[in-house]
Amino acid sequence: MTAMSAPRKLFVTTALPYANGNFHIGHIMEYIQADIWVRTQRMLGHQVNFVGADDTHGAPIMIAAEKAGKTPQQFVADIAAGRKPYLDGFHIAFDNWHSTDAPENHTLARQIYLDLQAAGLIETRVIEQFFDPEKNMFLPDRFIKGECPKCHAKDQYGDNCEVCGAVYAPTDLIEPFSALSGAKPVLKSSEHFFFKLSDPRCVAFLEQWTQDGRLQPEVANKVKEWFTVRTNPDGTQSEGLGDWDISRDAPYFGIEIPNAPGKYFYVWLDAPVGYLASLKNLLDQRGESYDDYMADPALEQFHFIGKDIVTFHTLFWPAMLKFSGRKTPDSVFVHGFLTVNNGEKMSKSRGTGLDPLKYLSLGMNPEWLRYYLAAKLSARNEDVDFNPDDFMARVNSDLIGKYVNIASRAAGFIHKRFGGQLGAVSADGQALLAPLQSACPAVAELLAEREYGKALREIMLLADRINEYVDQNKPWELAKQEGMDARLQDVCSTCIEAFRLLSILLKPVMPSLALQVEAFLNVAPLDFASAQSLLGAGHRINEYKHLMQRVDIKQLEALFEPPAAPEPERLVPGGEELAPTITIDDFAKIDLRIAQIVNCEAVEGSTKLLRLTLDVGEGRHRNVFSGIASVYRPEDLVGKLTVMVANLAPRKMKFGVSEGMVLAASHGDEKANPGIYVLSPGPGALPGMRVR
Ligand code: 2FM
Ligand code: ZN
Repeated sequence: MTAMSAPRKLFVTTALPYANGNFHIGHIMEYIQADIWVRTQRMLGHQVNFVGADDTHGAPIMIAAEKAGKTPQQFVADIAAGRKPYLDGFHIAFDNWHSTDAPENHTLARQIYLDLQAAGLIETRVIEQFFDPEKNMFLPDRFIKGECPKCHAKDQYGDNCEVCGAVYAPTDLIEPFSALSGAKPVLKSSEHFFFKLSDPRCVAFLEQWTQDGRLQPEVANKVKEWFTVRTNPDGTQSEGLGDWDISRDAPYFGIEIPNAPGKYFYVWLDAPVGYLASLKNLLDQRGESYDDYMADPALEQFHFIGKDIVTFHTLFWPAMLKFSGRKTPDSVFVHGFLTVNNGEKMSKSRGTGLDPLKYLSLGMNPEWLRYYLAAKLSARNEDVDFNPDDFMARVNSDLIGKYVNIASRAAGFIHKRFGGQLGAVSADGQALLAPLQSACPAVAELLAEREYGKALREIMLLADRINEYVDQNKPWELAKQEGMDARLQDVCSTCIEAFRLLSILLKPVMPSLALQVEAFLNVAPLDFASAQSLLGAGHRINEYKHLMQRVDIKQLEALFEPPAAPEPERLVPGGEELAPTITIDDFAKIDLRIAQIVNCEAVEGSTKLLRLTLDVGEGRHRNVFSGIASVYRPEDLVGKLTVMVANLAPRKMKFGVSEGMVLAASHGDEKANPGIYVLSPGPGALPGMRVR
């Protein structure tokens, strides 16, 4: 490698996924792209903070949470809890994963807003919008439907017609209705907050920032058009940048705007602030100063994003940062969409085609996918297609056939015949290794430029040369010949040295394979600088263990096999049909509380009932009868915590009044499956706590 200059200080992010669904393969592709870049930079000796977070706010998430019967906080927490298997599974090593609903984000978003306001770039205007009189809320365009004003197709969304493609304003729809309640929406006016992007200061800054060479040329060209014309919601066109509506009215899951009760930041205002919030959270955990970190003029900031969110990242976000007096991004790296088999786009909502968790559960190696996607990725904003045949061919012929084979062909001899020790490399071996070593910086450079496809093609050309050398020298024949030991050791050592050099170059793409290789070669963690030297004669390697399986066609068939059709007969859980659906409001009527069983005794004259004395934290005790005598001995229950219905009307029974009901599980068919099981809360619950 070239002499190391001072390490760069890099802050890197990927787009924050909406917390309303699991990751699909499109997310994974972006994270793999960024992860390879981050690993490359680290192997070059640079310092990187690589962070992500869930994008938690907005009306769609609020509505989805309500449908699921959860608070938005609980809803997004449940989604967040499902992220790890994907990230770990595909070896995506974020330094931190946070949430836009975290306190850091609330604080930062409000500060940024106040700074923009102080700069004179926030303005309020009264606008008219559709309002759902039943739900008592303004309706986002996505939740207004009606008849298309152009082609009269029914049931079209508020912003465009999926049948004829017409673009219009929701107010143009014929017979509009709320997709939430079915009610006829009414027009209602409300004060909204705008970020004045049309301000000459913003325009001048953005014209410079977007056109000074920091963006990919195709992206810069696209952005340029937005400075001249823009398309309005009703399909008409206006000149130049328009102001940006950054507020939404309550009810909204988001961050309340300072000094504006009932007004919230539109989700896209606080979403990118989440990049900073995640970084701040990371630095706080490490006891480092966020302010100092951001104030360092050497800091470089990069965002990996998809082509659908370019406006937010090349106009709104840099302008927000600039005019709130903050550091602006050094670049935004835009990638295209991932298609599967030239087919459907991996849309955000329907990530069909290739299910990442299914891929893992089939035992498919995550680094096959990393390698394959890397082979197809370039620095340009282009779509990438996953083709199963191509996938199998590339992994099996490139990775196994060309790369792994080099080690497997040479290592056995070194181990069996030379005690694992490498020998001297003679002139022809050196002639093979020298150009390989000198090719390394250029390949590292391609990786650093995000030209992964080109880099991998170079690496495979280098592997071809090594395989030619193996074919010419035939170690398996040398091994059988008398007096050829030294040559055998020489040839195999050359192969191992070459294999190590290729492994260095492949490490950002296949980090876990690289770990195995490091153990096998008995070397310190590989970085690009280590390509300048060789292991040398006398270095001892460990026994070769198989490094990577080939892709089996059966795995691919299983991966793309459509999910089994749902059972025609509805499965009856627990021997009992599900009760009819209730609303969250129905559920909220039942007041469930943690109760401590302070006393428990048998009931004379009853074989079924136990008499429980319960403490629900009310300063008095309750008497409750429960039909659990067949299963529980009274003394075993005393002191235990359980859950009770605390607002059930008192019931007069033969043995006394029961003031509530203890929750217990039993099978629908009690005869066939006897047994009743009292619920108990997890550790930490206290008497009187509500269960919701
Ligand atoms: O398009 C999306 O999926 C958004 N959740 C991306 C947000 S990126 C950043 F601004 F948070
Ligand atoms: Zn239409």
